[in-house]
Amino acid sequence: MEVAGPAAQALKSLTSAQLDFLRLLPKAELHAHLNGSIPLSTLKELATEFLATNSASSKSGDAVREGIEILTVGPTLDELNDFFSLFPAIYALTSTPDALARATRAVLSVFLDGDVPQCSYLELRTTPKKTGAMDMEKYIRVVLEEMDRYGREKVALIVSTDRRMDTKTLEAIVGLACKLREEGERVVGIDLCGDPLAGEMDLFAPYFARAKQAGLGLTLHIAETIHNTPQDTLKLLKNGPDRLGHATFLNEEAIAIVLEKKMCIEICLTSNLICKTASDLETHHIQQYLKVDHPITICTDDILPFKTSLVAEYALLIARPPFGLGLNEAQVKRIAEMSLEAAFK
Ligand code: IMP
Ligand code: ZN
Repeated sequence: MEVAGPAAQALKSLTSAQLDFLRLLPKAELHAHLNGSIPLSTLKELATEFLATNSASSKSGDAVREGIEILTVGPTLDELNDFFSLFPAIYALTSTPDALARATRAVLSVFLDGDVPQCSYLELRTTPKKTGAMDMEKYIRVVLEEMDRYGREKVALIVSTDRRMDTKTLEAIVGLACKLREEGERVVGIDLCGDPLAGEMDLFAPYFARAKQAGLGLTLHIAETIHNTPQDTLKLLKNGPDRLGHATFLNEEAIAIVLEKKMCIEICLTSNLICKTASDLETHHIQQYLKVDHPITICTDDILPFKTSLVAEYALLIARPPFGLGLNEAQVKRIAEMSLEAAFK
């Protein structure tokens, strides 16, 4: 996968000893979205096949072509909405069991294969989708079957819910996650993701409670934008999540709860910089957690649009300013240890 932008600059500024240190460091990737992590080469293959079997002039054909072009150049994301508009084209390409299996295989390979894999343990998350070719249960089973190529100590699944979902869909998804876990499948958690300003968070509470009761971990994208209200954030915190995605705009009351309950913050530096929810590393909210040794985990979020890798995200920690935070090896090792400790397995 190509690395570009701030993470590439950070990587380039490292000595080879620093790079070796980061590559060999045992670490967990705990916040990676399947459909946001597909290698561009795989997506292009799927697009070629899609365009060969769908009429070249169809609306979906045009959307796929345009989506691939944007992803090849690297998207310009002036608003978070620009980011979410990338996904319909990707979804058109992963809507059959075979295409989803190939996409999943490629994502797992990026994180887990090679002489020195990007991470020692991966929790990959995805939102189950009903398509013309599969129902939501089939969707999850296809992903789990691909995971079966690896040991359980290497990879597990987090099932995502989306802020736009209605209660019927939530009931079905959480029910499936619980059922598959009971069957002994490697489903370890439930996530909440999607358009950060959509949805009514009161509706989600009973489903998250059920998931927790079944022994699933809970991670919630929270306070991702400056427009998320304190009420929205507090409602989500009331569910007692184990981990929080982004948690960029917490107010004092929310921060006090997060610190007291030791909720681990999933930090996605490049994602925040590219989506412009953080202006720079110096003022990034990671700083407040580093100061008090609060649990954090460094993650990639979506390596496809953000053109990053887990090692590149760690490069942003160790590179000297202005390319990175300038942390020392002991500090970075501590952060990597925290990532392993925050796993749901
Ligand atoms: P999927 O769940 O495998 O389809 O992965 C892509 C989906 O993850 C997107 O449609 C979004 O709903 C969600 N997603 C990816 N990145 C973010 C993020 O930074 N914030 C909220 N949702 C996200
Ligand atoms: Zn995310």
